[in-house]
Amino acid sequence: MLDGKKVLVGISGGIAAYKVPLLVRLLVKKGCEVKVIVTDNALEFVTEMTLQTLSSHKIYHNMFTGYNNEESTEHISLANWADMMIVAPATANIIGKYANGIADDALSTTLLAFNKTVFLSPAMNSNMYSHIAVQTNLQKLKTFGVELIDAKEGFLACGVNGKGRMAEPEEIVEYVENYFSKQKDFIGKTFTVTAGPTREQIDRVRFISNNSSGKMGYAIAKELLNRGAEVFLVSGPTSETINETSDLHLIKIESAEQMYDKTIECFEKSDVAICSAAVADYTPKQKFDTKLKKQEGDMFIELSATKDILKSLGEKKEHRILVGFALETDNEIENAKKKLINKNLDFIVLNSLKDEGAGFEVSTNKVTLIDKDNITPLPLKSKTEVAKDIVDKVLTYF
Ligand code: CTP
Repeated sequence: MLDGKKVLVGISGGIAAYKVPLLVRLLVKKGCEVKVIVTDNALEFVTEMTLQTLSSHKIYHNMFTGYNNEESTEHISLANWADMMIVAPATANIIGKYANGIADDALSTTLLAFNKTVFLSPAMNSNMYSHIAVQTNLQKLKTFGVELIDAKEGFLACGVNGKGRMAEPEEIVEYVENYFSKQKDFIGKTFTVTAGPTREQIDRVRFISNNSSGKMGYAIAKELLNRGAEVFLVSGPTSETINETSDLHLIKIESAEQMYDKTIECFEKSDVAICSAAVADYTPKQKFDTKLKKQEGDMFIELSATKDILKSLGEKKEHRILVGFALETDNEIENAKKKLINKNLDFIVLNSLKDEGAGFEVSTNKVTLIDKDNITPLPLKSKTEVAKDIVDKVLTYF
């Protein structure tokens, strides 16, 4: 499962660092190529020589003397090289820096430059671990998609029994293996995902749009890619980013009409469509190529209805799986159920704007999954976690 994977192990300065040479050894035995980054403090607990001997690579430590004394941007090359990062032990300090975008040494800088899966295995005194600052930072990192290998209960180096012990190297390897075995779920399956808002141009410089951030759709696409799917991501304008790989086809559109054309085209090649985009229901009848000049008195814009993409997919659905979203403010369940039936969906993800932390622009969401037989309300979660729940439900339809 891990054979051939390139792993960057980051060690920060906690006593549990003494166990990390064993982690490196286990990963190498599993067939991984391992490179190690250490902080200054980590070297108080473990030696470069041990890690270098076990990994068969030089240790990256000082950004300014360089790694191999060759490259000054080694944090970027290492981030590009690796398939995953494992930070063990992750101290309160590195967790705090990573959660807040601080990059002041080799490890924290590489973490920010790294855009694939990061596993964090925290270790610290139990009072520190339960401190609101550390827990808030960990929650924040989860919303970034970081995989957290929770600290364990046990006897800690400070002499107390409590939660804060680093997971054993064997447990870390098991967690990572499980994570990658889950990836197999969607190998050979193709998805169309719509995301973000659309923009309906009024004139050369003005448009009608909405507050959709695209976060939910991008989180779904990332989860699917992690689990081996091929994804057509049809996206309206958003500041979200995603790595383009051979499995990810990013199709950028602006208007509802463009989203319609591209989504219909992609659906033909897909097994599933998940439509999370906030598509404009109306578009200006007339679009001006120049900037409209201010005129005396009021101004009226005549709108015409756009085509309902999801409804059209429902008509062409046949054996394919179709998932929609419903954003509601009133009679939520009833309205969502109507959309489920009218648009011929397998299930619908209801966002109620009455729920705090749900909806546009925020990184959390509180949704209810509704199919013809069940109504399943979920607690407030990060959009990354909600994406996992949605994708897990899709799996039950295959
Ligand atoms: N949708 C779509 N094409 C449209 C409008 C909506 O594909 N022109 C999709 C959305 O992506 C979402 C679902 O339909 O998956 C429901 O969108 P929503 O805005 O909640 O509902 P509408 O159908 O537009 O109805 P209303 O605005 O009246 O609630």
